[in-house]
Amino acid sequence: MIKKVQQIKSLNGEITIPSDKSISHRAVMLASLAKGKSVITNFSSGADCWSTLNIFKQLGVGINEVDKKTIEITSDGNLKRSFTPLDAGNSGTTTRLIAGILAGQEFDSEIIGDSSLSKRPMKRIIIPLTQMGAKIDSVDNHLPMTIHGQKLHGIIYPSPISSAQVKSCVLLAGLNAEGNTTFIEPAQSRNHTELMLKYMGANILTYNNETTIYPSELEAKDIEIVGDISSAAFFIVAGLIVPGSDFVIKNVGVNPTRTGILDIVKRMEGCLSVHNKRMTSGEECADIRVQYCENLKGCTIEGNDIPKLIDELPVIAVLASQANGETIIKNAEDLRNKEADRITCLVNELRKIGVNIEETPDGFIVQGKTKLCPITETSLECYNDHRLAMSFYVAGLVCEKEISINGFEWTKISFPEFEELFSQLY
Ligand code: S3P
Repeated sequence: MIKKVQQIKSLNGEITIPSDKSISHRAVMLASLAKGKSVITNFSSGADCWSTLNIFKQLGVGINEVDKKTIEITSDGNLKRSFTPLDAGNSGTTTRLIAGILAGQEFDSEIIGDSSLSKRPMKRIIIPLTQMGAKIDSVDNHLPMTIHGQKLHGIIYPSPISSAQVKSCVLLAGLNAEGNTTFIEPAQSRNHTELMLKYMGANILTYNNETTIYPSELEAKDIEIVGDISSAAFFIVAGLIVPGSDFVIKNVGVNPTRTGILDIVKRMEGCLSVHNKRMTSGEECADIRVQYCENLKGCTIEGNDIPKLIDELPVIAVLASQANGETIIKNAEDLRNKEADRITCLVNELRKIGVNIEETPDGFIVQGKTKLCPITETSLECYNDHRLAMSFYVAGLVCEKEISINGFEWTKISFPEFEELFSQLY
C-alpha cells in the first residue's frame, strides 16, 4: 500500500495511545502459564501480539476473545504439544520469548516465521538455552527452529548484549528449571517480564543489571495494559517539529526502562511535560503534553541510553533533522538486526528527502536543522518495517512537498490505529 503524506499546519487536541506491544505479549504468555483465569484488558491490536495469542491457542490454552481488546485466558498452567508449526509471523519477541518457555516443556515444538523474521539472529537465545540443557535444531541459528523439550537447569548468564528479548527468554526458561537462573546484562533493558512475573507471584529479584529467578508457580491475575511509549514516540516527535502543535497523549506507559525518548527530548530542550503519574497492573503510566519547539538542540545518544529507546531511534533521526547542530547515535549496532537494517535503510531513505545523515558502523550522525523536501525521489521504501514506515510518515508532515511511502500496511504489525489517531489531531 502506498501512503501519500503532505505537510501539515499543526497538531492539536488529545489522543489516547493504544496498548503496549511488549506488555501485551508477556500478558498472554504469563497468563497461559498461570493456573486459573486472567482477564487482559486493553490488549494490543498489533499483528505481532495476535501471533503470540494464536500460538498459545495452538498450545492448548483456553483463550476467549471477549472483544478485540479484552482477552480471557483460562489455563491449568500446562501447555500441550502442537503437531503443526507455531507461526510467529514477523515477531521477534514472540519467537525469542516462547523459545524460553518451550525449551523446558515435555514435548517438541517447531517455530516458523515470515521472511524478515527468518533472517533475524537466534544464536543469542540458542547459546544460553543450550547452556541450560535445551536441545534446539535451527537452520544456521535462524528459523525454522525445532525445540526438543527437556528438563532445564539454572545458569548464571553474563549476556554480551543488552536485550530484553534474550533476558526474558532466559528468565522464562528459568521459571521452570532446576535451581536458580541469573541473567546479567551490560545495561538495563526493558523490565516488563520481571515486573509481570513479580505481579503474578514469581520469586524474582533484580539488583542493578542482574536478575535472578527462582523456580516459581504463577497466580492467575487480571492485567490492564498501559499505552505504548514506542507508539507515542511518533506523536511526541511530530508535536515537537510541526509548528503550532500543542496536544496531550493520554495513558502512556512510562516505565523508566522505556522512557529514553523523554530523556532525549529534555536533553534537546524540547517542550514536553509528564502529568498524572499512576500505577496500572504493576507498570507506571502517565499523560504527556507536547508542544512545538523551534530551538531544539542536537545531542549525543549512546551507551546506557540505547536500550531505553532502541525502537525510537528511527523517529529520533527525524527529530534530529529539525534540531540545531549535530546529533550522534553510537553503540546502536543491534539496529541492524531489527525487522530491517534500521541503520542503512533509514539513512538511505531519509537522504532522499534532504536529511543530512551519515551512516556509521554502530549508528548515524545527523546535522540539523534542515528543510525537508524530496531531492532525488519522492517515494520512500519502508523495507517491510513498521517503525520505518511510521517514522517516514512523521518526516512527511514537515516536508515541503508531498512524499509517498511504499509498504505502509506494515504499520499493522504494532500500530494499526496510527493514521486514525493522527487524523484526530489535524
Ligand atoms: C522487545 C525488546 C527489544 C525491542 C523489541 C521488543 C521486547 O528488542 O527492540 O521491539 O518486547 O522485549 P531487543 O530485546 O532484542 O533489544
